[in-house]
Amino acid sequence: MNDPLVRVSKAKKTFEGGLVTALDEVSLEIEAGSFVAITGPSGSGKTTLLNIVGAMDVPDSGEVFIDGELVASGKELDSIRARKIGFVFQMHNLIPVLTARQNVEIPMLPRPLTSAERRTRALQLLDEVKLEKRAESSVLGLSGGERQRVAIARALMNDPELVFCDEPTGNLDTSTGDLIHDLILELNRELGTGFILVTHDQGLASLATRILTMRDGRFEDEQAPA
Ligand SMILES: Nc1ncnc2c1ncn2[C@@H]1O[C@H](COP(=O)(O)OP(=O)(O)O)[C@@H](O)[C@H]1O
Ligand SMILES: [Mg+2]
Repeated sequence: MNDPLVRVSKAKKTFEGGLVTALDEVSLEIEAGSFVAITGPSGSGKTTLLNIVGAMDVPDSGEVFIDGELVASGKELDSIRARKIGFVFQMHNLIPVLTARQNVEIPMLPRPLTSAERRTRALQLLDEVKLEKRAESSVLGLSGGERQRVAIARALMNDPELVFCDEPTGNLDTSTGDLIHDLILELNRELGTGFILVTHDQGLASLATRILTMRDGRFEDEQAPA
């Protein structure tokens, strides 16, 4: 049998010198092409889990494997992420002095591409998220929903196998939320891009093939999708 794309074994993460247990020995396997929704109250460990599963951070104890490769320390995390993973952060993490297009191009900078090639790919992605008209606008001038769409385009730049989204429709109006739902489903079904997303949006969670609920740094029993 092939390795799952992600395997987490008894990951534990504490903060504040051990006073706060954000992840309490969590284990998880995710197959390539999955669409997993993670729900749970604020402070239950969802963002910490995404950071660890997505090689943004390492657990205090336990192990994370991505494509069979042990995720262990700083330098390696960058290269694993660059090859396989896209991230849409809860706070967007866009660079305010850059335009939408320049933000989308950031993950491509380490690759040996010409600026024309980067530009073409970035514009294609901005078109997919319906922001082609704002490509050359500073992200400071964009609304919350528009910034979120820039963040999604940026996460897709390197054709990741797996995209992590932390509340991707958190602050969006319904029609923008629907656009993002459609985009995620299309990428998942047509290109086989895997998604792991933290969401309070029941509509979005119901599209997932698997729903995990966190509480106090652990999973509650896994639910079947409605
Ligand atoms: N960098 C940090 N420093 C201190 N405490 C943190 C940090 N990150 C998360 N925590 C704590 O860990 C717990 C889980 O946080 P988080 O994973 O952000 O939860 P969620 O995303 O479900 O709201 C919370 O109690 C939070 O305060
Ligand atoms: Mg969070």
